[in-house]
Parts: sequence; C-alpha cells; structure tokens
Amino acid sequence: MVDMDKIVSLCKRRGFIFQSSEIYGGLGSAWDYGPLGVEFKNNVKRLWWRDNVHLRDDMVGLDAAISMHPRVWEASGHVASFSDPFTGCLSCGRYYREDHLSEAIWNSKWFESLKRRLANEKDAAVALEKWAAGDGKKLAPSLALVERPEVILSLWKEKRLAYRFVQSEFGELLDGIACAPDGTPHSPCPNCGGQMSEPRPASLMLETFLGPVKETATKTYLRPETAQGIFVNFDNVLQSSRKKLPFGMAQIGKAFRNEITPGNFTFRTREFEQMEIEFFIIPGTDEEWHQRWIDERFAWYQRYGIRKENIRLREHEKDELAFYAKRCVDVEYLFPMGWSELEGIANRTDYDLKQHSHFSGKTLDYFDDESKQRFVPYVIEPSAGADRSALAFLVDAYHEEEVRGEKRVVLKFHPELAPIKIAVLPLLKKNERIVETAKKLCVDLRKRWHAVYDDTASIGRLYRRQDEVGTPFCVTVDVQTVGDEKAAADDKVTIRDRDTMEQVRVPIGNLETVMAELLTGQWSAVAGQHGIVKN
Ligand code: GAP
Repeated sequence: MVDMDKIVSLCKRRGFIFQSSEIYGGLGSAWDYGPLGVEFKNNVKRLWWRDNVHLRDDMVGLDAAISMHPRVWEASGHVASFSDPFTGCLSCGRYYREDHLSEAIWNSKWFESLKRRLANEKDAAVALEKWAAGDGKKLAPSLALVERPEVILSLWKEKRLAYRFVQSEFGELLDGIACAPDGTPHSPCPNCGGQMSEPRPASLMLETFLGPVKETATKTYLRPETAQGIFVNFDNVLQSSRKKLPFGMAQIGKAFRNEITPGNFTFRTREFEQMEIEFFIIPGTDEEWHQRWIDERFAWYQRYGIRKENIRLREHEKDELAFYAKRCVDVEYLFPMGWSELEGIANRTDYDLKQHSHFSGKTLDYFDDESKQRFVPYVIEPSAGADRSALAFLVDAYHEEEVRGEKRVVLKFHPELAPIKIAVLPLLKKNERIVETAKKLCVDLRKRWHAVYDDTASIGRLYRRQDEVGTPFCVTVDVQTVGDEKAAADDKVTIRDRDTMEQVRVPIGNLETVMAELLTGQWSAVAGQHGIVKN
C-alpha cells in the first residue's frame, strides 16, 4: 500500500491538489483542486450523477442552497446533538477528538520511538529510563515520565519486570507513564505527552450570519450535510415531477463541519463535497431497498477500478447507530492510514420528514393510489463523499513499476475517471508537418474528449509524464505518418496503451472510432484487430 506522503507529493507536483492559501503558510485541512484535480473530481461526480440519476427512472436531481433556514437544523437534530466529544492538552493546547485519541497516541512520534526502545530492551524500567533521558525529552517533554522520571521510574523499578511490550498492554503502559502528580493516570497528549482535559462535546456546526450588521443578522449554519436540502424539498419535487414511490432525489454539493481533528489529506476536512441520495419508499419495503442500495453502491466503486481486496462493508453496531437510523452499513476503503469510511448507507426511517413536518407545520406525506393510504415515506440514504471517493480512486490507481531498469509511476485510472483521456505527441518537434498534423489531430479529438498536445520533452519523458497523471492513451505522430523525401505518408498514427505500454498503428481516418472503443476499455480487442507494433 502506498503511503499518503507519496500521494500528497504527486498531487502537488502534477497539479491535482494544493494546500489552500499556501503562499500565506497554508490553511490547515483545506485543499484546492488544481487543473488535473478539478477534471478528475468532476469525473467522479459526473459518473455518480450519470449512474444514479440519468440511468435510472426512479431518480431525480436537486441543487439546494447551502444556507438554509435555521429551524431546519433544529428539526434535523443537528443544533442539539451534532457534536463530537473532544479533549485538549493542558500543556500545548492541541485538541483531539476523544474517540480518536488512542489511535493518535499509538501513531504519535513519541510513542513510535518509545515502542522501538521497549522492543530493544529486556527490562522495561531500563528502557523507560533511557528513553526519558533521551528521545523522550525532545519528543514528549510534558509526559509525566519525562518531567518526573524519578517518581515514575521508582514505581516501575519496584516491579523490575522483564518486559516485552505488546499492543494489548497499551492502556497499562500509558497508565504507568502518564499520571498527575497525585498518581492518578491520565491520557497523554499525542503531541507533547502533556495531560489531556476531561472530554466535553464540541458542536460541529459552522455558524454564519446573513445580513450586513452582525447584531441584527440572522444566525444560521453552513450546512453540515446536503441531505436536509432534499427533505425540505420533498413536497416540491413530488408535486412538480409527479413521481410515485419508490423514488429518490440526488444532490452533490459542499458541506461544512468544524471537525476537531481534520487530517489524512482530503479524507477529513472542514469543507468537503457530498454526493447524497435520499430514496423514498413505502414503509415495510425499507429493509429490501436498503440491501439493494448497499449492493449497488458497493459494486459502483469496483466498477470504476477499486480493487475488491481494498473495499469492504461494515455493519454499524447498535450502540454506534445514529439516533434516527434503523440500520447503517459503511462502505470502507483500505486507505494508507487503515480501513476508513468512504460512504454510509443508512435506513433513516420516516424520522426526517416527520421532524420537518412537525417543525414547519406543513404536511410531508404521500397518498398511495394503489392502497388508498396516506403515510410518511421511509428513506434509504446512500451518502458518499466526493473528496473521499476521489482520494480512494487515486490511492487505488497509484502504482510503481520497474521498466527497463527505471521506476515508472503510473496512475491506472479507469478511462472514465482519467483527467486527460488522450495526449497527442509529435515524435520530432522540429518537423513542421509532424507538429502541424499532431496539433490538428488534437483539435479534432478535443471535440469529444479532453485531449492535450505536448512537445516539451523527448517522447520517452512525455510518455512517463502522461503515465504519472493517468492518461490512458497517447497518440504519436511520426515521420511515417506525414512522409518525407524517401517515403510517402502512410497517414497512420501510433496509439500507446498506458497500462500494457503496447502500441498499435491505426489510420488517422479511423482514429476517432478506435478511440471511442478504447475509452470503453477494449484495448486487447483493438490491439488484436490492428496488431501490436512494438512494446
Ligand atoms: N447525511 C448523512 C451524512 O452526512 P456522514 O457519514 O456524516 O453521513 C457522509 O457523511 C459521507 O460524507 C462520509 O461517508 C464521507 O465520505 C463524507 N464526509 C463526512 N465528513 C467528512 C469530512 N469531514 N471530510 C471529508 N468527507 C467527509
């Protein structure tokens, strides 16, 4: 599995993703999609929209405003309870989500170094003493063991344990090295080892004020999910589109959460994009529809290239279910930091429509012509992150290979996801006819696909550049294509496949048809038809 630093560095180097406001030192956890990133993320969103809206009879789209009436968030339960417990370090002031604290300590620099030291010494007390006097001072200056080594070590020395540290003793070890002066154990800060405060809830809602003078302005929130825009438009869409149950509404848009511990690149940020569906159904059919959506969404990621060993479904335990959910299943991806949520698929029952009906005083129900009954529909919600999906597709596509003794970095994107579909490259940039033909080909191809022309390096380097950004096909124009004094033009170009690096030669007149076949993933069929020319 590739580490995240490599992905971050490739994204910056090749113009996929930059840190926000970088020239001012950067804004933590906010990211800007560059020229290739915006094409790539748009492709993720376009495929999601096409497959979930355009290819289905039972779905329609929506684009609701980000700012909504403040009562929406009271009705949805967000104002009262959309919070995470957090804890702050009394020494360095860093904040952490309480439920992420153990993981943050386990992965912290100081704990990594302590683990290494413990692994190299038989006697834990000796290991702790050496570490506290050395690396501990630099990495965890506020840890009780480092600040008051005599006190802490005397406790350990009493035990004189021959000690091999194992993960199951993590809690025990922490209790022994992080405690208040009266000996009461406390959680240590992942950053400096200091004492963490008692946890308290922090609202994830980002407040904003609509109006010129703050004192008299309307206080509202930047939406923390796109879902509520769908619920409050249920009746508008029902009346205007004349849809019958079951039917769904889809929306892609920005959402904002004041996350306590954003991080892992674009995985957890305060501003992100969601791709959400609210699928309205007859109560009693909810379990069946829920399972259908779980299967469909799980298959969707694999359809566009996620390898099956890197994706799984995880059923929520009863005690982690959101208060409104009857059942929830997460689609998880094996990100570089471990298995993490890509999408949640929840059975939200009739909770939201009933809440909005109650708070707004408007009836939000449905009359079923067949059963002649009126009821509030149930809702199945497949809720995905556009940024997380894009990150998963990027990580999964990343490959390093050795080709003729050199490292080749290649993003093996599904052609539909690739930001550039075709690169047109002249073999000799000093040959005017080659350049002219290549530029004209590029202009023609651009009418259907995102194609680029590049003549700024040798052909080998141009291929590598395109491999690194995941361009599925390069089209090369050479002397044979345009002819010279020795031979007449053959009017053929070479197409090179990114993944196999195989090449076929096709007449320019057939190029568009062949590209259309290739971009739907038929390299071997096309290669078989035209014959591979060289590799
Ligand atoms: N309407 C339901 C809902 O919002 P969620 O599990 O909180 O559910 C759905 O969010 C998806 O939105 C997540 O699976 C994830 O892909 C994305 N998401 C949530 N918080 C995010 C964050 N802070 N940064 C990036 N993506 C996030």
